[in-house]
Amino acid sequence: MHAELLEPTARYLELLRRHGQRDAWLPAGLMRRLPTASASPTSPQTRETQPDLTSKARPMATPTLTPSGTKTERLAALRAETLQCQICPHLAKSRTQVVFGVGDPEARLMFVGEAPGADEDEKGEPFVGLAGKLLTKMLTAMELTREQIYIANVLKCRPDMPGSTSGNRKPTRTEMDACLPYLRAQVAIIAPVVIVALGATAVEGLFGPQKTTISRLRGTWMELDGVPVRPTFHPSYLLHNQNLALKRLVWEDLLSVMERLPLPISEKQRGFFLPPEK
Ligand code: URA
Repeated sequence: MHAELLEPTARYLELLRRHGQRDAWLPAGLMRRLPTASASPTSPQTRETQPDLTSKARPMATPTLTPSGTKTERLAALRAETLQCQICPHLAKSRTQVVFGVGDPEARLMFVGEAPGADEDEKGEPFVGLAGKLLTKMLTAMELTREQIYIANVLKCRPDMPGSTSGNRKPTRTEMDACLPYLRAQVAIIAPVVIVALGATAVEGLFGPQKTTISRLRGTWMELDGVPVRPTFHPSYLLHNQNLALKRLVWEDLLSVMERLPLPISEKQRGFFLPPEK
């Protein structure tokens, strides 16, 4: 292959990897000539066959996936590695701690948010602030507890604020791209049946920029590494827009998730957040 084709080939392979392709056939000898091979979080085999050119331009996490052990052990090993991350030096400097994720490593249901806020940065656990309290209520409505599911964010560090001011900022594309391999590795280990993506930023972090809004994406299914993903509104959005119709939309997403798992759904649950009959 001509040298000038190596780079586009590597980019194409990375694109395939991002779309969930696990294997690619390469002519003998080509692999060695491609730019820096990087890790796919899902298997050591793909690591050998799928180079990541973006790692040259923009640093990306390359988590090691422990091939053996229980899900708990493998997740613990990944956690230990993630806690050491220095890929985004500004975040490594500003964070109190890395917020890896919490819940049951055997969970069938996983919730993914965008990034830790101040409360999460302090406690080291995702969704422990006001939005987290609402998420816990949503789980209660599903007759689930936080211990039965797994909760993580696309970005594992709190986005730093200018002059350490309070408040939150949206994670940048570069930050989310750098961190996403950790989340994909979590997904590969936990192997949930369904993922719920909370909010437009989480969707963008998982799938890249979208041509449409979260209002249009919710109610549909997407897919990450073969796992069905249900986008819905972020709990913070619900906190700022307290209306019944919006709550019902989120609840309909959660009902679809319950059907897919499947979880039992009572008549009472089916009717949650419907307008009162006149
Ligand atoms: N919002 C998120 O997206 N994640 C958290 O952990 C908390 C708030």
